[in-house]
Amino acid sequence: MSFPIVRPRRLRATPGLRALVRETSLSPRDFIWPLFFHAGLDAPAPIRTMPGVFQLPVKDAARIAKEATRRGLGAVILFGLPKTKDARGSSGLDPDGPVPRAVAEMKSAAPGLVVMTDVCVDEYTDHGHCGILKTRRDGEVEVDNDATVEVLATMALVHARAGADVVAPSDMMDGRVARIRRALDENAFEATSLLSYAVKYASAFYGPFREAADCAPKFGDRAGYQMDPANAREALREARLDENEGADMLMVKPALSYLDVIRAVREETTLPLFAYNVSGEYAMLKAAAAAGMIDYPRAMMEVLTSIRRAGADAILTYHAVEAAELLGG
Ligand code: PBG
Repeated sequence: MSFPIVRPRRLRATPGLRALVRETSLSPRDFIWPLFFHAGLDAPAPIRTMPGVFQLPVKDAARIAKEATRRGLGAVILFGLPKTKDARGSSGLDPDGPVPRAVAEMKSAAPGLVVMTDVCVDEYTDHGHCGILKTRRDGEVEVDNDATVEVLATMALVHARAGADVVAPSDMMDGRVARIRRALDENAFEATSLLSYAVKYASAFYGPFREAADCAPKFGDRAGYQMDPANAREALREARLDENEGADMLMVKPALSYLDVIRAVREETTLPLFAYNVSGEYAMLKAAAAAGMIDYPRAMMEVLTSIRRAGADAILTYHAVEAAELLGG
């Protein structure tokens, strides 16, 4: 008895059939647009390592908020570059700093826009590390977990007071989700949501961002607090801890070298899960496109689709506006 040839190609024959059976879709709602607000700028300043991305003056915040709304983006996430830096990152707690000011302007220009803030001191410390430093008994300098968590809780409150809908700690200190949640609740910000950078690896792909946000560590690296790229089970532990501490949403970062981790965390949690398509991933496509080596729009859409297919509900991406435009947004 002979069987007919199985023909998966039947469903690839026309655009209509392909659209009908497509498993993963993209919409502008799926994109969260990262923005860099610089306290000392009067006009947008291009970032050498990230073609098409700019450091922005705070006075542009309202215009950008309206653009994000017009394009139907899911949210924006704000990073700040202050006028001054010190060892404790004090300028990150200033209610007149670039992030709180930009948040307030964005929320008044576009009240329906979801505005998130990155909560971390690395943009505000003169040494560039994600916390307060201390010298250990063996003489090594390290980030002091518990002292840092206190500063993060204060920073999250400053952002919440400015009107942020979501605060997103990106530091990888232990216990910070619970501490930030408590600080928000005790100050009547129980409606402010918390997106945890729960699974954040010590990655070379953050290189271009560190120029954008002027936050490269002046000595050492971040391996003492960010995760080892070799570990996947540890990602599940981190995700579980943050869920138990009260995170409303979780993130995996970076995205492309960690699609397996996105999938594993997706299967482990019912919380919304986001992935950060980081600066190095963006810069690689831009560089390949500039060298005439790749079809940029197709490669961009393929990358974004792969991150959604792996299980991310939404994607933090510098491609947000270009991709929304291609989708008709
Ligand atoms: C830390 C932070 C970093 C990024 C987002 N938040 C840098 C780091 O951990 O070194 C990287 C984002 C990117 O590379 O696009 N505040």
